[in-house]
Amino acid sequence: MGFDQYHEPANELPPETRTFARMIASLTEEAEAIGWYEQRLAVEPNAQARAIMANAQGEEFKHFGMDLEFLVRQKPKWRVALQDILFKQGDIVAHGEEAEEDEQQEGQAQQVFLEKTCCAWPPPGVRLHAPRQIVRDSHCVMRNLPHG
Ligand SMILES: [Fe+2]
Repeated sequence: MGFDQYHEPANELPPETRTFARMIASLTEEAEAIGWYEQRLAVEPNAQARAIMANAQGEEFKHFGMDLEFLVRQKPKWRVALQDILFKQGDIVAHGEEAEEDEQQEGQAQQVFLEKTCCAWPPPGVRLHAPRQIVRDSHCVMRNLPHG
């Protein structure tokens, strides 16, 4: 079994990042399986065999969807992008451009949230990788106090 999903030393990665990398690898594998079944279905002459493969491909759709949902729950900006792009009619590229703008707004909203809550950040029970690196504002808006 390979450990190719890591591009940084695994022992330096926090557990959340290792889980994220595993799920990205799983998402990739599910997408590959969908593609492989698509090719097999295109060339298989036996109807019963095609039915079995079509059923299996449906399982891969589900697996892909579950992996994707797990991942976007970890990345709010990713969810914003997908909400702008997926399950819509019309120009996919135009939806992508909208998604990029909305991602930037989401990032700004997160920054404002952190600035407003920074003196109480992180809340009890929440562990972030480096929250103080994100908060660059020198003044706590919520408590009207300079940062300590
Ligand atoms: Fe699968």
